[in-house]
Amino acid sequence: MYSLIRPFLFRFSAERAHHLSLNALSVCHRLGLTPLLARRPPDCPVEVMGLRFPNPVGLAAGLDKNARHIDALAALGFGFIEVGTVTPRAQPGNPLPRLFRLPAADAIINRMGFNNDGVDALLTAVKASRYDGILGINIGKNKDTPAEQAVDDYLHCLRKVYPLASYVTVNLSSPNTPGLRDLQFGEPLKQLLAALKSAQKALAEEHGRYVPLAVKIAPDMVEDDVRGVARAFVDAGIDAVIATNTTISREAVTGLPYSEETGGLSGAPVRDASTEVIRILADELAGAMPIIGVGGVDSEQAAEEKIAAGAELLQVYTGFIYRGPALIKDAVRGAARALERKRG
Ligand code: FNR
Repeated sequence: MYSLIRPFLFRFSAERAHHLSLNALSVCHRLGLTPLLARRPPDCPVEVMGLRFPNPVGLAAGLDKNARHIDALAALGFGFIEVGTVTPRAQPGNPLPRLFRLPAADAIINRMGFNNDGVDALLTAVKASRYDGILGINIGKNKDTPAEQAVDDYLHCLRKVYPLASYVTVNLSSPNTPGLRDLQFGEPLKQLLAALKSAQKALAEEHGRYVPLAVKIAPDMVEDDVRGVARAFVDAGIDAVIATNTTISREAVTGLPYSEETGGLSGAPVRDASTEVIRILADELAGAMPIIGVGGVDSEQAAEEKIAAGAELLQVYTGFIYRGPALIKDAVRGAARALERKRG
């Protein structure tokens, strides 16, 4: 079905196609037509971060930034949905064009820049949805918030989203907000994690519910840095790591149209780099916290590979744009096979 729709969608600019397809999907869902778009993936329940997931394949952050399409997306069979990145205040993001397809490489380059309607609008949308599955809410900082005050933006969002989130993702790895990735290292990282953990503790008492904190990291790190980050997460008591966000490397797409556009590259070209980060994390963490694997999952085999490398859950974005809803079922199958093998 999706292979028939895709050529039509790809005639539009990438951003126009994005809005068109999400709005059409929501209309289909309201008309009860989503079962025609995707066969439900097999059950493959997993327990991670103390939460029970019907299957280990989720939607990655950035596709439903304002949480307006949760019900329709969930109906396609995702095991969990992550919305955002959301910032304290609404912001327009970067000027258009800012989203580019590289079909020859099954890739996307984006420099959206956290365009979103702000955390209050996101919460209104979440409250309006009927979804009762696992919902991750991914939080970030406003572009015009100075680096020294970044922690205040994250704390503001954490407090707001806490009551409605199954888990909260702290996004430190978008290449499109100047200075954001610097928060992944050294003292700024330690201070941010300590502040978030102490807020989480207070919120858990206030709400009588513990909401896990995941941190999302970039693929553009040398091995020592990945190991250092993993140790900082363990020391701080972080609940999960999401690896990875998009890459600033262009090695795999040199010479292709749009390859020189500024932004984060996603899809097949980031697959191996992100799997390698997962492998290093798994080695350093030795089971201390779960890894959520994301980056270039576009087939059964790619899903299997990421779980085999050490991920317990997966997320997809670019593969979903190129392959459509059928990818979910394929990825669940690959993940299930690798999980079975791990369990022996
Ligand atoms: C993203 N991604 C992303 N990640 C995040 O934490 N917050 C965000 O707002 C966004 N926004 C976003 C927009 C677009 C257009 C793309 C393509 C990606 C990153 C995404 O969640 C994922 O980590 C990477 O894209 C790698 O996975 P895939 O796309 O290769 O499956």
